[in-house]
Amino acid sequence: MNLLVTGGCGFIGTNFIRWLLTAADFTGKIINVDRLTYAGNPENLTDIEKKFPNQYIFVPADICDKDKMAAVFDAHDIDTICHFAAESHVDRSIVAPDDFINTNILGTFNLLEIARARKARIERFHHVSTDEVYGSLGQNGYFKETTPYRPSSPYSASKAASDHLVRAYHATYGLPVTLSNCSNNYGPYQFPEKLIPLMILNAVDEKPLPVYGNGKNVRDWLYVDDHCRAVWDIIQQGSVGETYNVGGNCELENLTLVEMICDGIDKKLGRSIGKTRDLITFVKDRPGHDLRYAIDAAKIKTDLGWTPETEIKAGIAATIDWYLENPTWVTRVKSGAYREWIARQYATV
Ligand code: NAD
Ligand code: DAU
Repeated sequence: MNLLVTGGCGFIGTNFIRWLLTAADFTGKIINVDRLTYAGNPENLTDIEKKFPNQYIFVPADICDKDKMAAVFDAHDIDTICHFAAESHVDRSIVAPDDFINTNILGTFNLLEIARARKARIERFHHVSTDEVYGSLGQNGYFKETTPYRPSSPYSASKAASDHLVRAYHATYGLPVTLSNCSNNYGPYQFPEKLIPLMILNAVDEKPLPVYGNGKNVRDWLYVDDHCRAVWDIIQQGSVGETYNVGGNCELENLTLVEMICDGIDKKLGRSIGKTRDLITFVKDRPGHDLRYAIDAAKIKTDLGWTPETEIKAGIAATIDWYLENPTWVTRVKSGAYREWIARQYATV
């Protein structure tokens, strides 16, 4: 397999590549294409690059760059695509949607066109998407693969558009696609703008913990390695043209989750239990804030035998440990100087 992974220097892409090469039975080649936005860090995979020189290649490139991406497909004889690259943060999409439209919609369209032109060679185009395309649930019910799309944010609308394009390329051109719509991931290497790493790092520094609205919004949490395993199962065994919902079967109100993190930090740092909870601060709500996400993952369980394995308390403890053990990573991804250095290193991007 010559596997093109887009966005492999981001949170899930990094974990996916690391998991494939160290924990799965992957014997092919991985070509990681990433534009290195603020969310992409090639140093995440420096050890992998050294350990697997014959199996891992990094190419700094923008998925919107037609000529460069076509050259990557040809130079590496790409037969399988796992498409993670995206602008992924809802709050950023509310402030500045342009990059979301460009990367998530036009970038995906570009990859589809390049794959279409090489259809005879393409075994699988897997598109990684989100449960946010379904919009918000009330107190009851679950997102199924058949739930109508009703995105609320520019982020989720851009992902919805990309999902529709991927399905259209299967229906119209017979491109062998699969899709996955997954719930909230957490774990190592997540950029500290997202709820869990933001709360861990603020709690360690004894800074306020900003909870939007009343903290009663519900998300369904999934440890990132479980998501990686689901994506790989779908690429290997999923039926062409199908969509699989992936979730953690772990619904939590935001406030409950933040309190769990606070108690984990107290335990880890030897603070008196309850001390870190005092940092919780309720702030103005996110515009268009979806109330509740919950996934019905029966299809992937029945068809492919996938279920989530990591229990939330163990996953949160492992995530807290990782952020405490990697302060250099945190400082570097948050530093403007580091971004300038990356830009100079990869001047071709
Ligand atoms: P991330 O923001 O951590 O990483 C995105 C990566 O894509 C970065 O490395 C970035 O540099 C790269 N990228 C952005 N624009 C690019 C472009 N034009 N060309 C090439 N590379 C580009 O995101 P993530 O959390 O790892 O999410 C990965 C995928 O999974 C996204 O498609 C997202 O919609 C989806 N997803 C995420 C979650 C979650 O909870 N994080 C849940 C469900 C689905
Ligand atoms: O559901 C899958 C989606 O999960 C992915 O598609 C997105 O890429 C990913 O970013 C994530 O989106 P969310 O908006 O759910 O994640 P975020 O971590 O930004 O927020 C989680 C919840 O916590 C949400 O209800 C908003 C709330 N929140 C978030 C932040 C950053 C706060 O209360 N305070 C905060 O500071």
